Amino acid sequence: MTAQKTTKDLLQAPKGMRDFFHDSFYSKQGFFEKAEEIARYYGFQGIETPVLEHEAILSKGVGDDTDIVSKEMYRIETQGGDRLVLRPEGTAGIMRSYIEHGMGSWPQPVFLYYGGPFFRHEKPQKGRYRQFYQFGLEILGSDKAVLDAITIHVGYLILKESGLDIRVKLNTLGDLEVRQAYEAKLKAFYQEHQKELGALDQARIDSNPLRILDSKDEQSKKVNEDVPTSIGSLNETSSEHFKKVLEYLDAAHIPYEIDHALVRGLDYYVHTVFEYICGEESLALGGGGRYDGLAQTMGHNKAVPGIGLGLGVDRILEYAQPGAYTPKTQESAQFFFIQLGFEAKAKSFEIIEILREHEIAVEHSLAKNNLAMQLSIAEEKNIPYAIIFGQKEALDNMVIIRDMKKRSQTSIAIADMAEYIKQL
Ligand code: HAM
Repeated sequence: MTAQKTTKDLLQAPKGMRDFFHDSFYSKQGFFEKAEEIARYYGFQGIETPVLEHEAILSKGVGDDTDIVSKEMYRIETQGGDRLVLRPEGTAGIMRSYIEHGMGSWPQPVFLYYGGPFFRHEKPQKGRYRQFYQFGLEILGSDKAVLDAITIHVGYLILKESGLDIRVKLNTLGDLEVRQAYEAKLKAFYQEHQKELGALDQARIDSNPLRILDSKDEQSKKVNEDVPTSIGSLNETSSEHFKKVLEYLDAAHIPYEIDHALVRGLDYYVHTVFEYICGEESLALGGGGRYDGLAQTMGHNKAVPGIGLGLGVDRILEYAQPGAYTPKTQESAQFFFIQLGFEAKAKSFEIIEILREHEIAVEHSLAKNNLAMQLSIAEEKNIPYAIIFGQKEALDNMVIIRDMKKRSQTSIAIADMAEYIKQL
């Protein structure tokens, strides 16, 4: 049954979804620009996959028993009977794309970055939306430990731009064999302590014992004081891999802390898992890990090792220092264009186009007619120079450049305007 909506309800964005405009629009754009710039510098190339994917890719990849798949996916059945979902995360879709386009035959590993909206039907609250934005990195086709460190490093650099104090939490689940043996060990441990666990966690013993490790339940927390750790259960190759990751992180001066309870809520992880944390509430601004078994669980006939992360853009921008991420288009203009009279207004497009061709940022308010009004806008915005274009100037093919602070001005031919301005 669908709930009846009043007109007032219908004139609001769907629950957990929102509009971006003004500062929220530009800071999001600025974040993606900065993230892309840093990712490209470290050798990542951009990729965009559809917002919809086949349901089975997500349920097999992320795992049927995870919260994301069992409770939070938006499902769509098409008229042709295809079962699609609004992507709740990016990694499964990127892996699907890697396989579909035979990227395995490209030079390995393949470094990819992506960004955009993701969808989870969660209870909305501060920093949690039903449509949220991620910037992600994935390195596919190699299991080398240095790639875990590069991923963590690049995510850290992007987050540092926020001006926040970022901490990295880190753990290892070991390779697939270790992870499975560890899950069995946990099951046995929790079965022994079943009655001491919280009710929700008792029900998780068989389906998802790893999730009990980071339980918020006070009773379960007590049980967890003596729980075996995954690091204590590693085999030699897994232990070697983790040691190397730590050595690379030390060399890159990344402050990290090992958290034995960090398991993350997606089933595809093996070896390294990590999260970026800030503030007292220890809110996760992003997280990721290695997923060497994902391709095969999705049905591919070959293993494709991979490591990646997703940064939560909404959360980062909610906590970042104001102005931390400014897009290029918002870098403040040094010139305000003022026009007076019909001839000048008509010729304004020409002047603005000359400035744009010379990449000179300019603001204007072409809908206004009055000189004092336009000057006061320029003053309010603290723009240092005005370009004044009146009837006389339009006839003589001249403009006036006015220094707003000194209140001095010079006339200059339109043909020389761009060069003159660049000298200023
Ligand atoms: P995730 O931890 O599920 O990982 O999501 C990454 C980040 O997205 C979270 O740390 C959080 O900041 C943000 N996020 C998640 N859900 C919401 C929400 N409802 N509202 C606002 N922000 C949210 C992944 O999605 C993996 N695909 C990351 C990855 C890539 N692992 C390997 N490669």
